[in-house]
Amino acid sequence: MIEFQNVTKIYEDGTEAIKGINLTIPEGKLIALIGPSGCGKTTTMKMINRLIAPSGGTILINGKDTSETDEVDLRRNIGYVIQRIGLLPHMTIEENISLIPRLKGWKKERYEGRVDELLNLVGLEPEVYKKRYPLELSGGQQQRVGVIRALAAEPPIILMDEPFSALDPISREQLQDELKSIQNTIHKTIVFVTHDIDEALKIADEIAVMRDGKIEQIATPVDLLSKPANEFVRAFIGENRLNVLKPLKLVSDIMKEDTNHLHNMLEENEYSSIPFDASIQEAAGMLLSSGKPYLMVTKDDRKIGILTSSDILQTVASEGNKEASSV
Ligand SMILES: Nc1ncnc2c1ncn2[C@@H]1O[C@H](COP(=O)(O)OP(=O)(O)O)[C@@H](O)[C@H]1O
Ligand SMILES: [Mg+2]
Repeated sequence: MIEFQNVTKIYEDGTEAIKGINLTIPEGKLIALIGPSGCGKTTTMKMINRLIAPSGGTILINGKDTSETDEVDLRRNIGYVIQRIGLLPHMTIEENISLIPRLKGWKKERYEGRVDELLNLVGLEPEVYKKRYPLELSGGQQQRVGVIRALAAEPPIILMDEPFSALDPISREQLQDELKSIQNTIHKTIVFVTHDIDEALKIADEIAVMRDGKIEQIATPVDLLSKPANEFVRAFIGENRLNVLKPLKLVSDIMKEDTNHLHNMLEENEYSSIPFDASIQEAAGMLLSSGKPYLMVTKDDRKIGILTSSDILQTVASEGNKEASSV
């Protein structure tokens, strides 16, 4: 777990980059820091491994103040991936990936096995790629190596600063998918900086939206879309995306008009009544709790329509799919 307590950063030229951040990043979660250029994402991230020292406040990792931790130790236990790859050009892929394990004194057998395992994880066949130099790989392949190099020594924390933003859209999507699937098995604590809201919505467990050195909102992707905290967050997410969850359907949108006057044929104990402007969620709740097969939709005491549990299940399922594919 990483905790920011009232953290501030003022650069030497007087720039107030971080104006008091409180943030808890739980173990095993992927948190995206997002916000416009210059809002302080990189500064926030680099304070975690002390590439930048905070001016005020405290950053704790598993309860331990990072200012009291040996910096070399700290960085060896925190993986780091940056936008421009950062592979060492005169080292082979194998040497790049095994660099930190070797610095940590791993035995040859162990780090060689690890290199093969990691290359396989991102679909790069070890026998083909490990003896090559970085420039003999495509941009997407190099960035895959950048990602697995950060994983090599099995650090509990990984920092990623816009790691995919220099890639073409297809490679970017592929690497996002790969990161998600890797994270499903390794469950590291990952801090992922991006300015791309779609990327954040796709990969993050929680998203911290920053503006001008502060955090405006921290929420899960679904909560961010459904409950943006203020106008800035709304604007940053964009109306299109907000609308995805917006059409909260009403009972009247999916009811069948009772043209057959079914309500005259039903016994009182076969249905419950629900107002036309109730939500589908409320209707589902009522069907479940009443155990009756029908819902009678009413408006001003008139019975205007009928709903069955299958009408509701179908709606819930199709809305759920829409939500899942857009998030
Ligand atoms: N070394 C530095 N010295 C002075 N100001 C800096 C330095 N690094 C960043 N800044 C300023 O701090 C603010 C936050 O920068 P940064 O954390 O890089 O933002 P982001 O990653 O969100 O684009 C910006 O105003 C930037 O110009
Ligand atoms: Mg940055």
